[in-house]
Amino acid sequence: MDPLIETVEDALTKAAYAAYPQVPAEELKMVVTPATQGKFGHYQCNSAMRLAKGLKKAPREISQAIVDQLERALFEEVEIAGPGFINLTLRPQVLSALVNEVVRDGRLGVQRPAKPKRIIVEFSSPNIAKEMHVGHLRSTIIGDALARLFEFLGHDVVRLNHVGDWGTAFGMLIVYMQEEVPEVLEGTVETDLPMLMQWYRSSKERFDSDEAFKGRARQAVVALQGGDPFALKAWEMICQISRTAFQEVYDLLDIKLEERGESFYNPMLSEIVRDLEDKGLVEVSEGAKCVFHEGLRIPLMVQKSDGGYNYDTTDMAAMLHRIDDERAERIIILTDAGQNLHFDLIRRTAEKAGYLDPKKVRFDHVPFGVVLGEDGKKFKTRSGEVVRLIDLLTTAIKEAKALLKEREYDMSEKELNHLAHVLGIDAVKYADLSCNRISDYVFSYERMLRFEGNTAAFILYSNVRVNGIKRKIGNIDIKKLLTTEKVSLEHPSEIDLGLHVLRFAETLQMVESELLPNILTDYLYTLAQKFNAFFRDCRVEGVAEQNSRLLLCEVVARTMQRGLQILGIHTVERM
Ligand code: ARG
Repeated sequence: MDPLIETVEDALTKAAYAAYPQVPAEELKMVVTPATQGKFGHYQCNSAMRLAKGLKKAPREISQAIVDQLERALFEEVEIAGPGFINLTLRPQVLSALVNEVVRDGRLGVQRPAKPKRIIVEFSSPNIAKEMHVGHLRSTIIGDALARLFEFLGHDVVRLNHVGDWGTAFGMLIVYMQEEVPEVLEGTVETDLPMLMQWYRSSKERFDSDEAFKGRARQAVVALQGGDPFALKAWEMICQISRTAFQEVYDLLDIKLEERGESFYNPMLSEIVRDLEDKGLVEVSEGAKCVFHEGLRIPLMVQKSDGGYNYDTTDMAAMLHRIDDERAERIIILTDAGQNLHFDLIRRTAEKAGYLDPKKVRFDHVPFGVVLGEDGKKFKTRSGEVVRLIDLLTTAIKEAKALLKEREYDMSEKELNHLAHVLGIDAVKYADLSCNRISDYVFSYERMLRFEGNTAAFILYSNVRVNGIKRKIGNIDIKKLLTTEKVSLEHPSEIDLGLHVLRFAETLQMVESELLPNILTDYLYTLAQKFNAFFRDCRVEGVAEQNSRLLLCEVVARTMQRGLQILGIHTVERM
């Protein structure tokens, strides 16, 4: 079935064709939006304003002509308001019939794409020998949600972790470790990421102050790039240590990624530069090979003056590889907004070089704002250090547990620990997803763990409540109800809830095109609120409407579950 909004648009468009047969069809495509307030009905159409100029008529007159042709079977009320908006209210019988379809549909009325696309979602992408920071956390959480959405919709999704695993810094780190902690490189002593970071810092200091060391580090880079077995083995080991630490975070978040780091693109770099040169795009500036673009003060630098390749070169190679070899039809990269210019340069260069044809492949750099502490400054520990993600997540779980204890939850210790784990991680994810990703985001355990408002706890609790009704009524067999019973929406709160359920498909469509997960969290928050209103106003148990209302609860429960699943939010049975 079509998303409800499209059904409404189609009806209006058909009426517009009938009203203005002389106007080209593509100009008559009617656009509707959900009504902003209940008193304006269910949907609103403002298209008459757009048509007024061409038709040389007042918008009200145009709306009237369209409404006169409108097939009324769908609508209970159609009203022309203000300067010429059309406010539309659907018939409860129409909504009931649609809810009856949705409750029996495993996909909740969400269509599969006519042609599934191959979509690369690149997210997380931390750097080897460095700690993952809160920016990587945002990338990971938002990227996973978008990947899950595309997976549910039915696309072919590749989740790539573009880790920073290559570059000149590895030379100094390898030499430092070789000289200071050879036993680690020999594999006789184990180590971890915090140690690695310490060596990284010390090696940097030495690199800056000790000329001889600098020379040895440069040689190590050359050796590594030349495939020297010792250097490669050391590099492998360094990557492995970091990988183990990253994996701990991914496991806690329950997020899956395929690692394809920068080093993967090494063999392609020289050819990319040559190709860009052949196409006449390269200009040498202060010894470096650059691609300049009109209106941008900074060029893309594809080869440094010392002949080395860099972040820019790798991203050009990644773009070409993803399009030509991976056959991606859509590419999405998540990083903080600080990299907007970089990806603008990559996009423009890729288009000029003919790697990226926007008509065939949609490329989106999806940026997000910075994570701030409650003091409004960049998120740091009290002592001013970068917060380790693993600490941040375990703290969220600890805080969740303290809160549950305070609320005197009647649960076994084991159940409490489980709930605290789910709630802690969910709170971190939900808080991030529910704010518009473009804005900066203030990290606050206290706020994200609240039980009221648009929070993880509120949604989890609402989900438990919806499911609780079925449990309370006991021996009802939903499968059987589905074959024998129908939903009939009558009470205003029921109609309101049913309508919102029917908006699930169009909501996902919107998230898909805007790449804004907060559209879905807002939807779920409203779903929970409308459910609460329904539950306040309509008795379920032991009334004549029991079976209809149970089916309504069923479809709400499934919509909520599905929505949360798409966001990567885990649910609980009891709370
Ligand atoms: N490793 C980079 C960072 O930590 C992010 C990589 C983003 N992806 C890319 N294709 N450049 O900032």
